Amino acid sequence: MLKIVVSSDLHLRSSYPKPEADRSTFSFKQKITRSGPFQFAAHKLLVPAYEKITSREANLKPHVGVEEFSASKLRIADSFSRTGADFAVFNGDFFDLSRTTPGRDRVRQEDVLHAGRDLIDNVGLPVLFLPGNSDGLHKDDIYETLDDLSFVNNNAWDRVKEVADTDYEPSRDDYGNFSFKIQNCLVIGLNSVPPGEFKFPDDFNYTFMEQALSSCKKNVPVLVFTHHAPFRVLPWYFQAIGEGIPAQTWLLEEGGILNHHVQKTGKPVLVTSGHCHQWLYEKGTDGISRLCNLPLSVSRGNIGVLVKADDEVIKIEKVRINQ
Ligand SMILES: [Fe+2]
Repeated sequence: MLKIVVSSDLHLRSSYPKPEADRSTFSFKQKITRSGPFQFAAHKLLVPAYEKITSREANLKPHVGVEEFSASKLRIADSFSRTGADFAVFNGDFFDLSRTTPGRDRVRQEDVLHAGRDLIDNVGLPVLFLPGNSDGLHKDDIYETLDDLSFVNNNAWDRVKEVADTDYEPSRDDYGNFSFKIQNCLVIGLNSVPPGEFKFPDDFNYTFMEQALSSCKKNVPVLVFTHHAPFRVLPWYFQAIGEGIPAQTWLLEEGGILNHHVQKTGKPVLVTSGHCHQWLYEKGTDGISRLCNLPLSVSRGNIGVLVKADDEVIKIEKVRINQ
């Protein structure tokens, strides 16, 4: 049985102070959502109120500093390793950096990069990283950020390819999308940043997804990993302020690409995401399960979930931190 640890949203914060952003480059939406009154209303009023009334488990402010994180790294690494998983996927927002000004976070990236690499060096399994919106992505240095994640993951892609099934050609593109088949399950990772914002082609993910599915000649379960949820997790008032808006909704459209796969093959599909910092797990009547992970948090004792998949079934269980 294939086992994958899925984790996300650590929001590892540099010990260097945040430099002032160049507000002249902000879009109108950024000017509003990054203003003092807006930040106060959202984080001092809306978020605490939401955490109080929600019936779902949430951790809307999971940020952790480098020093605190480094003190816990061996416990975190051990929690990954002892699951006995074949590999792990980190579903975005490993770092807590900005994307508002190009190059602004270069200094702040140094200590978080090395703290991240230090963790991964101690994890006894390959960890594949997908980018999230807090990983320092900016349209002018997107590839630098992908390089940073590649540095942290310590050759995870090469290690995973070694154990992948040989009847499917593993694939990875310049945007960080990847696909491979392992133990008769198809694994697909998608970079879910808004393409318009980063001057990517609109269909950069759709094309990759279509190719990944059509290249698989066997009827197999599919596991999709992505940062932004392609389904609704947070309520409307968060969407109104630009948080947790579903992305890549074409993934789960009725009659869409995954729906078609389930109907054609009869095999289960799981779509996992992070970003919303709230727990959601639903087994859809369409044969597609939807999962939104809680953040990796030492203080909350949460690592993520262990996905177990074989030819017929996909199951999940929560992974707690080793106390
Ligand atoms: Fe995010």
